Amino acid sequence: MRIMLVGFGVVSQSFAEILHSQSSELARDYGIRPRVVAAVDSAGAAIDPSGLDVQLALRSKRESKSLSGLGENVYTEGKPASEVIREVDCEVVVEATPSELTRGEPGLTHVRTAMKEGRHVICVNKGPLALAMPALMELATHNEIMFKFSGTVGGGTPVLDLAKKCLEGCSIRSIKGILNGTCNYILTKMAAESVEMKEALAEAQKLGYAEADPANDIEGFDSACKLVITSNYVMGTSLSIRDVDIRGITEVTMDSVASAKSQGNALKLVGLVGDGAKVAPEEVPLTHPLNVSGTFNAVTFDTDPAGEITLVGKGAGGRETASSVLRDLIEIRKDFRR
Ligand code: HSE
Repeated sequence: MRIMLVGFGVVSQSFAEILHSQSSELARDYGIRPRVVAAVDSAGAAIDPSGLDVQLALRSKRESKSLSGLGENVYTEGKPASEVIREVDCEVVVEATPSELTRGEPGLTHVRTAMKEGRHVICVNKGPLALAMPALMELATHNEIMFKFSGTVGGGTPVLDLAKKCLEGCSIRSIKGILNGTCNYILTKMAAESVEMKEALAEAQKLGYAEADPANDIEGFDSACKLVITSNYVMGTSLSIRDVDIRGITEVTMDSVASAKSQGNALKLVGLVGDGAKVAPEEVPLTHPLNVSGTFNAVTFDTDPAGEITLVGKGAGGRETASSVLRDLIEIRKDFRR
C-alpha cells in the first residue's frame, strides 16, 4: 500500500514510526505492507516510489528539522505538496499539515487535489473539515474514494466511530464535550498545582499537545472545529466553524479556577451542540463524567433511547493521534478487500 505523508510534524512522524515498528503485525493481521512513497513538509519533498527509508527520514527531521538528510536523489527543496500529490502515484494521502482556520489552506487544496486524483484521504488537519466538510464529503463520494478523519477529534479516542457505528438506531439529541487537550491540561495545572496559564501552555507546547498556532487552542477554535466535525458526522448537521459561538480560556484567571474549586466544581472549556453550537468555559461538578484531567478529552452524547453515554480518552499527543490514522488506514485496507 503506497502512502504519501503531507506534513511531517509530530503526528506524521509518530505514524511513520508505528508503520515501521509494527510492520510484521500489519502484514500478518491486515495484509498491509506500507510503503511511504513521499513525505512533504513546508520546506520540500522527499520522493521515492520504491519506498522512503523511514528511519532515515525521521533521523533527518530530528537532527536538522528537515528531510534533506535523505539525499539529493530523493529530496527536492521547495517542491510544493499539491504538485507531489498530482505527480506521485499512491493509494492513500495523509494530510497532516497544521490546521489553519480562516481559509483552511494549504490543507484544503491538498485534500481536494488528492480526491480529484482518486486517492483515498486520511485527514488529521481540522481546518478543511471545519470550513468545508459537506463539500468535501460530496467530493469524496463523487470521486469514489474513502475520506477518513478519525484523528481530528479525540486524538486516539474513537469519538467519531463510536458515535457513528455503535449508536446506530439511537437518535443523538446533543453533544457536550471537553475537546481540547491543551486547554484541559492548562486548566488542570492551574487548579491542581496553581501553575500560571502562560507556563502551563508552554509545557503543553513542549509536550507536543498544542497546535502550531496555540491561539487556536486557548481561544477555543480547536474545540469549535471538533464540535463541528462531530456534529456534522454523527448528527448530520452542515455546520461550519463560523456557526459556533466561541469563547476560549484566555480570560480565565487563577481566581475563577479557585472559586469553581471551592464550589465543588472544575472550570472546563466545554463545547456543546444541541440548541445551537457554542464553546465556552463552564463549571463542571467534580463528580460529573466530563470532569477529566490533563490531556484527557470526554464527550457525552445524549441519546434516545439509551440516555447519556460518555467516552473518555487521551485527546492529544503524537502517538495517540497516529493510532487514529492507523485505524483509518486499516479501514481503507478492509474496504479495498471488499
Ligand atoms: N491541540 C490539540 C489539543 C491537539 O490540544 O487537543 C489534538 O487535536
